[in-house]
Amino acid sequence: MPFPEQRPRRLRVNENIRRMVRENSLSLNDLVYPVFVCHDSDQAIPIDSMPGICRYSVDRLLRELEEIVKLKIPAILPFGLPAKKDAAGSEAYAEDGIIQKALRAIKKEYPELTVITDLCLCEYTDHGHCGIIQDNYVMNDPTLELLARTAVSHAAAGADMIAPSDMMDGRVDAIRSALDKNGYAGIPVMAYSAKYCSAFYGPFREAADSAPKFGDRKSYQMDPANSEEAIREVRHDLEEGADIVMVKPALAYMDVIRRVKDRFGCPVAAYNVSGEYSMVKAAAQNGWVDEKRIVMEILTGIKRAGADIVITYHAREAAKWLRDET
Ligand code: PBG
Repeated sequence: MPFPEQRPRRLRVNENIRRMVRENSLSLNDLVYPVFVCHDSDQAIPIDSMPGICRYSVDRLLRELEEIVKLKIPAILPFGLPAKKDAAGSEAYAEDGIIQKALRAIKKEYPELTVITDLCLCEYTDHGHCGIIQDNYVMNDPTLELLARTAVSHAAAGADMIAPSDMMDGRVDAIRSALDKNGYAGIPVMAYSAKYCSAFYGPFREAADSAPKFGDRKSYQMDPANSEEAIREVRHDLEEGADIVMVKPALAYMDVIRRVKDRFGCPVAAYNVSGEYSMVKAAAQNGWVDEKRIVMEILTGIKRAGADIVITYHAREAAKWLRDET
């Protein structure tokens, strides 16, 4: 029955009614906060292209995390800046590597905070690619061994969840088997399953000093034009034992988030990446947009698209806004 019987505006008449019929909402429970951690002590180095975000030494990171824990953000995702880089990214799986050091310190101070570790070699290799290089090509199978080794070393240092972001074929299986064999069968894998080769990672590469020194990542990360391929990638990762699958970036890929959620019904994470954050910050700093409203609209939109988990550099501010609303 159309107008005049139907008047959708009746349900928009005031805030109480709008609250009652609201279909989606962002919750504190959905947020994961990525952080950058470096060696030395007393370091808080601002990242120019990501206002509000710093690289912290472990001692300073612990201080920052006090607020994160107080705000009840459930999880963080630390990225490490190694002391030295080499062809095999050996600090990624070193006993005294930056992530291993940070994990031990964080879990000691804040045992209740969930720490998800990004598993990739690009921050640790001198060539900046996500695997072992031969003839300018990233070799898949030799890289799997290093990823598996890194996953086990993260688990041994206290990681609560492992998130492989390298896009090698078969990595979830390799990581799952290695974790299981070493007594970590209870540690979930959150796979960066549909990870696109995106210009939105630009500011992150400054933050993590992880830009490739030659070429690009097109031979392993996905073509932004594809979504059928995302379905295949997600299916492979679930078959290999992924517990949570991720779509990354988020905003240009909302359709992919929705397709994955509808198709598989599994827990889905979306990564609201560095470039997405920086664009909002730049516009807000210029007074061109209302930052709080824009951020809440973006994060709610990612949830509406079908994500259960939203990884975002806005998490700390969003958590404060959510707290102040209630
Ligand atoms: C590591 C990794 C990247 C990001 C997360 N993990 C960079 C890349 O693939 O180049 C990007 C995150 C962001 O832009 O916020 N492979």
